[in-house]
Amino acid sequence: MASCVNSPAMTLCPPCVSPSKSLCCSISFNKSVSRSSFSSTRNALLCLRRKQTATSFQITALAAEAAAEEAEPLRIIISGAPASGKGTQCELITQKYGLVQISAGGLLRAEIDSGSENGRLAKEFMEKGELAPDEILVTMVKEALSKQNGWLLDGYPRSLSQATSLKRFGFEPDLFILLEVPEDILIDRVIGRRLDPVTGKIYHLKYSLPETEEIAARLTQRFDDTKEKVKLRLKTHNRNVRDVLSMYRDITVTIKGNCSKEEVFGQIDMALTKLVKQGKTSTSRSLAG
Ligand code: AP5
Repeated sequence: MASCVNSPAMTLCPPCVSPSKSLCCSISFNKSVSRSSFSSTRNALLCLRRKQTATSFQITALAAEAAAEEAEPLRIIISGAPASGKGTQCELITQKYGLVQISAGGLLRAEIDSGSENGRLAKEFMEKGELAPDEILVTMVKEALSKQNGWLLDGYPRSLSQATSLKRFGFEPDLFILLEVPEDILIDRVIGRRLDPVTGKIYHLKYSLPETEEIAARLTQRFDDTKEKVKLRLKTHNRNVRDVLSMYRDITVTIKGNCSKEEVFGQIDMALTKLVKQGKTSTSRSLAG
């Protein structure tokens, strides 16, 4: 079989099927090289091994990436009080791990926007800072999850009945991420939060400013982001959180959310990397320790 090693005339490398030497045989471990440049990371790894000039760091990093590609997709729940940073962290997790985010609050807001009767009813509960009825949300979440192999479930379950039904439907997470942030900070975060209706990106008037004037001009505020309403939402959260945690104790990782979003993501990334490296079934148990 032809080798990709040091063959100046060859422009097609069999293992990685890259038409370009610069993308294949000359690969340096560089994240900016798109993974789609290779038929798979595994093939790129084969190529590096054959070349025998790759450093052990390059080999190890690519091997981890290849293992991640071949592993079962991750199933993650992210939980925490209102404004603890769930949505912000979901943006970063989906960027790195390619998971599909399913947000309970987002599903409800879409239902409200659709003008349906369910949406109208859900809004009544959300206005009071209470949980929307299970009859509305449980089926919506079940349908959304059924369409995905891996998922990042944001803000669900929030009650024992939701956690029980999730289990009954066979949706078992690998990891339950709990973000912890002191209450006074949560209120500050809620009041200053703004959303970009075009990109869906989350901003804050103090902590996460929009990049341009144009974005700043179109930012909107959520109808439940007032000081009064967040206090009610917090009460609801505090009333239910223990019950939910009791269902996921063995797979819970608690993250300190009162630091920069990059630092919060660093903690989450560490937990997810560990999960991916060790194989999630066994890792999920050891992570909780
Ligand atoms: P939902 O939309 O899920 O709201 P929530 O749980 O109150 O959470 P938030 O979206 O407010 O905050 P977040 O944790 O995502 O924080 P974010 O990243 O935006 O639910 C809304 C309502 O829907 C509920 O009240 C309920 O009525 C209903 N509902 C939802 N789920 C339900 C369920 N399962 N069952 C029944 N009803 C349900 O960050 C907040 C702000 O802080 C942003 O401005 C951000 O820029 C900033 N920020 C984030 N991280 C940092 C950081 N590290 N440092 C500084 N600032 C930061």
